[in-house]
Amino acid sequence: MTADTYVGAIDQGTTGTRFMVFDHAGQVVANAYEKHEQIYPEPGWVEHDPMEIWENTKEVVQRGLSQSDLDAEQLAALGITNQRETTIVWDAETGKPVHNALVWQDRRTTDRVEEIQDEGKVEWIREKTGLECDAYFSATKTEWILDNAEPLKMDASRGEDVRDRAENGELLMGTIDTWMIYNLTGNHITDVSNASRTMLYNVRELEWDDELLKEFNVPKSMVPEVRPSSDENLYGHTDADGFLGAEVPVAGALGDQQAAMFGQTCFDAGDAKNTYGTGSFYLMNTGNEAVESDHGLLTTIGFQMSGEPVQYALEGAIFITGAAIEWLEDVDLINNAAQTAELASSVDSTDGVYMVPAFTGLGAPHWDGRARGTIVGMTRGTRKEHIVRATLESIAYQTRDVAEAMEADSGVETTTLRVDGGAVKNSFLCQLQADIIGTDIARPEVDETTALGSAYAAGLAVGYWDTVDELRDNWQIDQEFEPEMSADEADKLYSRWDDAVEKSLDWAQE
Ligand code: G3P
Repeated sequence: MTADTYVGAIDQGTTGTRFMVFDHAGQVVANAYEKHEQIYPEPGWVEHDPMEIWENTKEVVQRGLSQSDLDAEQLAALGITNQRETTIVWDAETGKPVHNALVWQDRRTTDRVEEIQDEGKVEWIREKTGLECDAYFSATKTEWILDNAEPLKMDASRGEDVRDRAENGELLMGTIDTWMIYNLTGNHITDVSNASRTMLYNVRELEWDDELLKEFNVPKSMVPEVRPSSDENLYGHTDADGFLGAEVPVAGALGDQQAAMFGQTCFDAGDAKNTYGTGSFYLMNTGNEAVESDHGLLTTIGFQMSGEPVQYALEGAIFITGAAIEWLEDVDLINNAAQTAELASSVDSTDGVYMVPAFTGLGAPHWDGRARGTIVGMTRGTRKEHIVRATLESIAYQTRDVAEAMEADSGVETTTLRVDGGAVKNSFLCQLQADIIGTDIARPEVDETTALGSAYAAGLAVGYWDTVDELRDNWQIDQEFEPEMSADEADKLYSRWDDAVEKSLDWAQE
């Protein structure tokens, strides 16, 4: 390592793409961001344009470097982190997608998932993948694209049937990490943490599962090579004649929630973090053991370092948290996210109002794709402040749902929960979270832990950092929030939350 070298991270998220550069102390040197279009062709369908995402990626990388007066040659390595499960199928020869990406939030394959559930295959799938059988994951999304993509739509030069072309080995599939690595290096590779989110990968055998590939009609020739999350053998190099004009090693990749866990230095069994983004994702490192959940959590792969065994995690995937705040903005109850703290703290309570933001069904621990959002308990006296407060409380209650499940499954009591993501800038929410789950909440100084985690993975692979112990010293607390509410009061508030959730699940039956 020389004094003027850094590590870059591309964080390709649900709403936009960020490029960050970190120095050896894990401090931010460059940061550039660009949103992309959310495409909703039908209710419950969510798509992204993969070419727009790739164009934005090149743009933010160049902007980030030039804004901070950096040269691509100063990058010792590049790491990738990404919205998980979102699925792309593309032409192996031209690199052009055959359809828009089906985003993790997309529910169009719910019927197909219910068919599989009715066939009694839920346990079989959980045993192999650690996942709930749900439209959230990549398996049914890939199948849908192969059966429904109109070949002429994305690439007029190729007219044949998409499924036939897949069977002939002409198409490739991948999650967003794979799409990024492919475009950066030309190689078709994913990392274990992303593979574990496809519902096609066997997390115990650590290989693509032939029976699942058959079940979901995905030809094996389409799936990427699976590598460690931090790979000394490198995924490849950027092209010296390409947009960066330099050969930078691409050496680390992690799904964004696993990257946040890594960036929060949750390296040991029992370490836990919760990220508050579009949704919230509570992950606890369970070490080399794939802990099974009896309480609606996912067993997933946390990360794998070069030459080492994989580390597993238990995950509580909550679909809508930060997006509920966006919804408040969409319906003009607030002007911006920052306003929620002021409005919520202007009232002592929600006055009995509960809001369940089940806009895309409910994930952990309920797993009901047909649940819908609901607001209950309103009176003539209900004001927007109460609804805003109820929305923030819904984030804290959903987190308590998964925190309790986590404790029951792991037998580990979390005494300090590390938090990150956009919404943790809101100290009112952090305090509320501490109160509702009765646990200390630690907010770190560098809140972009997702990008940081993938930079760490890439930097460790090329020897920019030597060991994970070195990284622990980089983790510094910005603020710690201790519970102020009595446990009785928290329990009382939380008990009615269950009733509200029932209403949103009831709606699913109709
Ligand atoms: O599993 C979905 C998750 O990876 C999305 O994260 O931060 O892009 O909303 P985010």
